[in-house]
Order: sequence, then C-alpha cells, then structure tokens
Amino acid sequence: MNARPLKVAVLGCGVVGTEVVRRLHESRSALAARVGVPVEIAGVAVRDRKRPRDIGIAQELLTDDPLELVKRDDVDLVVELLGGIEPAHSLLVASMEHGKSVVSANKTLIAEHGAQLHETAAQHGVSLLYEAAVAAAIPLLGPLRDSLGGDDVTRVVGIVNGTTNYILDRMTETGGEFDAALREAVERGYAEADPTADVEGTDAVAKTVILASLAFHTRLSPTDVYREGITGVTAQDVADARSRGCVVKLLTVLERPAGQGEVLARVHPTMVPLTHPLAQVKGADNAVVVEAAGAGELLFRGAGAGGVPTASSVVGDVVTAARRRLLGRPVGAMAPTVAGQVRPMRELRSRYHLGVRVTDAAAALDDIATVLRVNDVRVDSLHRNRSVGPNTWVLATEAVLESDLCAAVEALSAVPSVAEVPRFIRMLDPVGQEALAR
Ligand code: NDP
Ligand code: HSE
Repeated sequence: MNARPLKVAVLGCGVVGTEVVRRLHESRSALAARVGVPVEIAGVAVRDRKRPRDIGIAQELLTDDPLELVKRDDVDLVVELLGGIEPAHSLLVASMEHGKSVVSANKTLIAEHGAQLHETAAQHGVSLLYEAAVAAAIPLLGPLRDSLGGDDVTRVVGIVNGTTNYILDRMTETGGEFDAALREAVERGYAEADPTADVEGTDAVAKTVILASLAFHTRLSPTDVYREGITGVTAQDVADARSRGCVVKLLTVLERPAGQGEVLARVHPTMVPLTHPLAQVKGADNAVVVEAAGAGELLFRGAGAGGVPTASSVVGDVVTAARRRLLGRPVGAMAPTVAGQVRPMRELRSRYHLGVRVTDAAAALDDIATVLRVNDVRVDSLHRNRSVGPNTWVLATEAVLESDLCAAVEALSAVPSVAEVPRFIRMLDPVGQEALAR
C-alpha cells in the first residue's frame, strides 16, 4: 500500500475524543484495509496540553492551537469533539474553507447552524457527517437520510438522551434519588459538560431538530420544539406510573401526518406502557421508532452515550468521509431548505395522567368533575391515591386536546378546595397512537 496516508485532525480529547484517538490508533491496520490507504492522526487539539492522557500517541501530536492544526496542508479530515458553539463553529467553517471534510458529534452546533454548515460543505466540495450527534452508537441518521430517502416518514418517537434515561431508570428500578443518579451519569461520561442540557431537555431538543431535518426534510429551530425536562419528575410520578403499568421516559416525538405540512415537535416526560418497546430501554441506552408510509414501523435501539460506543459512530463517519475523499465524491447530504411549519402544542391530542391534591377529597370531587366537563376533558379513570394520604385524586383522561387540558388545570388551580396546581404527565397510548387534532 503505497498511497499517501489520509491525515486526521482530532479536536478534543475528552470522553469521546479519547476513545476516537484510541480506536484510530489501535485499529489502524484494519482501517487502512477498509479505506484503501492508511488513516493517520495528524494532531489532537486540547485545552490543556500538559494534562497526562492515556491515549498511546506521541505527546508531540497534542496541540492547544486547533485553528493552526485544521489549516495545515497535510490535514485531510477534521473530527470535532469539543462540544458547544464556539470555537467549534469557527473551526468547522475554517476546516471546510481549507478543503477538509469534517465529522462532528456536536448536536448543539448542528441544530443551530446545520443548514449553513451544509452550504459551506457544498461550496467547498467536502463532506459533513455527524452520525454520533443523535443516539450516539445507533446508526440512525444514515438510514433516515439514505435508506428512507424515498419513503414518507410520518412519525419519529424515541428516547434520544442517555443521561435522562439513566436517571429515570435508576429512579424506577431502585427508587434511587435524582441527584445521585445524575452524579453517576456524569461519572460514566454520559452527561454533557453542563448536564443542565441533559436534564432540562435542551440536548434532546437539539437532536429533535436534527431528526426533523432528515425525517421531514424541513428546517426547524430549537425554539420550534416544545420542551419540558425531567427536573420536575418526582418519586411520586414514578410510583404513579408504576401503578398504571407504565414507566416515565423523556420522549422526543416528531409528527407530520401524511398529506399535512405541519410538524409537531416535542420533548417531555411521558408515561410509557410497559408493553411498549420504549419502556424496555434501560440505562443510558436510546431507542427510536420511525414510522414511514411504505416501510411501516422501524425500531432502532442501542447505546445512546459514552465514549466507546460514540467513538464507533465517529470512526464510522471517518471511514465514510475518507473513502469518499479518495473517490473524489463528498457525501453531499443536502441541507433542508424549507423552513418547517410548526404545529402548536395546544393542538396535540393525548391522554394525560393528572394528580389533584385537595383539602377535602369528598367535597372536592364535584368541583373537579364540573371543571373537567366544562373544559371538554373526558375522564377515563379516577381514584383516590391513598398511598400519599387521603386527599389526592389521580385520574387518567381520554384523548383530549392539550389546550383543553391546560385550561382545565388553570381552572382547577383557582378552585378553593384544590390545594395546589394539579400536576400532569402525558401518556403514550398502548399502541403509540396519540394523534394530532384534525
Ligand atoms: P468532554 O468535555 O469530555 O471533552 C471536550 C474536549 O474538548 C476536551 O478534551 C477539551 O480539552 C477539549 N476542548 C474544549 N474546548 C477546547 C478549546 N477551546 N480548544 C481546544 N480544546 C478544547 O466532551 P465529550 O467528549 O463528552 O463530548 C464531545 C462532543 O461529543 C460534544 O459535542 C458532545 O455533545 C458529543 N457527544 C458526547 C457523547 C458522550 O457520551 N459524552 C455522546 C455523543 C455525542 P481538555 O481535555 O484539555 O479539557
Ligand atoms: N449527554 C448526551 C446524552 C450524550 O446523555 O444523551 C449523547 O449525545
């Protein structure tokens, strides 16, 4: 094999970068055979060059000047594993302007600037790949972009954040505390540099934007996605879910019914029936169900966070970009040019679990029934939750409009016999068939 090696600049050597460097180094013979030429590490950019790192590469390869690294003439591919918007954004643009193909795992950046980055990639004839940015190890973006490119995706529902799934799973399985479970997720390298992004749902929102661009070929902004994180989920919610034969999961749901232009995109805690495949997703795993007109229902499941699994996806993109580069054909995934029409959350039709704490259970029942009836919220089941004391009513609604449910909750909050603002959690239908209002 006499051809010139392809040189890779790796930006970032943290949880993911360390494993990417390790894999590129330790699997170099296999990668050379698969690509057709050796794939060599040109340099690794970090903040702190002096910090000892157990990555088995020469110390001289480390640099704290990522811009100088990506501009070097001998660098062919750039792998961005810094996280955040800057300097990652400027570095990716500079890389592409200098003719380098780029691979990134940075969902925050792709969700904010994906369209512009795709344009830059197209202008400079280079690849822009980011399979690891959503659901880490699971090959999901490639199938959505390529394999389903000829079908009409109508719905995507799944768990796309490993940290929150880990926390909710611990709360469910062991009755563990939120804070302890979050600490474990950070120690295991699942969480973002600022775990607020995980627990408040913004990480899942960024991934939802990327999924929408590939599933529906429309451009959404993170502010188009309805967001509720898991910080408000209590041990009582988890217990209530169990008593309904459900578990609480942070779900991403994207819907665009066939023949309709509007997309409803949302991220929020949801009660998922144990019979649904998403209820069985444990630890930091992710799973996504894609529904398409022709293909039907497809389930993608696997490791959703962590250095080693994420490095698998990243290095897979390096192999793809390297092969395409040798063939002179960048992976030209087009940026969605059509701005998505967003359906407001109030038009969601769903079932809801509702907990109403009152001052006197018997006296409050008539008030609750009246408020719900007036607001068109039909009740499927109602009982007193005696495990939390004599004065809490819990009920499940039939499929009702979110706007009606919210109006009922507001009205209930003003009823004298209701002790606090009622809490509600959306419920996934046993067959996953919540529907948009027609
Ligand atoms: P870490 O915080 O562990 O690592 C970040 C790395 O970037 C560190 O090596 C840091 O240097 C380096 N760095 C940060 N800023 C600069 C800078 N200005 N100049 C030079 N180097 C810099 O992050 P992760 O590895 O966890 O995540 C990386 C990316 O991968 C993020 O976009 C994340 O969202 C994404 N991702 C993460 C997954 C995970 O499970 N962790 C899974 C899927 C995607 P130093 O080491 O000196 O501090
Ligand atoms: N913090 C992210 C998560 C990493 O927990 O899902 C994977 O994108």
